[in-house]
Amino acid sequence: MSLPLLFSPLKIGPVTVPNRIAVAPMCQYTADDGSMTDWHLQHVMNLAMSGAGLVMVEATGVERRGRITHGCVGLYSDANERAMARVLAAARAVALPETKFGIQLAHAGRKASAQVPWDGGGALTADADPWQTVSSTDQPFGPGWHAPEALDAAGIERSIEAFVQAAKRSVRLGYEAIELHMTHGYLVHQFFSPVSNKRQDAWGGTPEKRMKLALDLMQAVRTAVPVSVAVGVRIAGSDWMEGGVTIDDAVTLTNRLKVLGAAYACVSSGGLDPAARISVGPGYQVGFADAIKKQTGIVTRAVGMIVSPEQAEKILADGHADQIALARAFLDNPRWGWHAADALGVDLHRPPQYDRARPKLWSVAALKKG
Ligand SMILES: Cc1cc2nc3c(=O)[nH]c(=O)nc-3n(C[C@H](O)[C@H](O)[C@H](O)COP(=O)(O)O)c2cc1C
Repeated sequence: MSLPLLFSPLKIGPVTVPNRIAVAPMCQYTADDGSMTDWHLQHVMNLAMSGAGLVMVEATGVERRGRITHGCVGLYSDANERAMARVLAAARAVALPETKFGIQLAHAGRKASAQVPWDGGGALTADADPWQTVSSTDQPFGPGWHAPEALDAAGIERSIEAFVQAAKRSVRLGYEAIELHMTHGYLVHQFFSPVSNKRQDAWGGTPEKRMKLALDLMQAVRTAVPVSVAVGVRIAGSDWMEGGVTIDDAVTLTNRLKVLGAAYACVSSGGLDPAARISVGPGYQVGFADAIKKQTGIVTRAVGMIVSPEQAEKILADGHADQIALARAFLDNPRWGWHAADALGVDLHRPPQYDRARPKLWSVAALKKG
């Protein structure tokens, strides 16, 4: 029997992942001034042996003011770098063979200075140490949100430089992939979307100028990082609102990013504006991934409400994407990859300490057969 696509290796630019399962980046809101804690130690270690060929580490603020919350991970100080090195070394020590690690570099822009989700997720109140946010605009994300400062040219250059410095730290940490966060309504998306960018300068006013931050960022980071590291993007397939980013805009941007050396695109959507109306359902963003893959030829990752191994395999078999990312399914079941292998008849390596848990050795079904 041939190997299911989900368990076939994939080349992403200079990096080969052992299978097509990726853990999507997931903020844990549990860092200390950007530094990972013991929570991250168990979290990333668990994901390292989840069976996913690629583990994407959560959105990591490239500067302190670019974090979403006080609890978000950052990579803007030596202390941040040391804390992350500890977590990554431990994760690599237990990772399944050939597992690769990526980091998502991010700047939240006007969605920064927010509460952690379990405190409500809104803007930080005056007594909770809020900070001045920045954006393409001086208009807030929504009612009750902080009014950002519209970045000037020097401020934009500073943000790009923060990405470059964080990317250099990521290289020192040994990540095989660096992902630039260009969606979910964060800074780069705030510049890209016509809904949030009404500027009439070098950074707005035409589609080309709205893409400028994304393109300059890709160029700057790609240039700063060795060719052995894959630099990719997470992009918005749609803003889900009138006048917002469409899949055609996303295709145009991805084609341009590809020319600049982007190795892959993970296709997500939404988050730009609270007024957006998103039709959420099983595989609801796969159509966007399909368009990106077919119209750009870039290595494409699909994400969003992909839950079962069979669903993931079919998306690949139907040619909609090259790789599948899952987020919540891995939080719920950090051995998702093992179970996917069992379901698709693949003999995935497991740590020998846990090997006796293989279903064929002890499950009720196996016992009955025996
Ligand atoms: C707890 C949690 C944290 C998340 N943090 C991030 C993040 O850091 N960066 C990002 O791009 N998306 C983030 N997301 C979105 C996921 O990566 C993913 O795109 C989304 O949950 C849809 O996939 P799913 O249906 O498999 O959960 C987060 C989602 C969850 C549930």
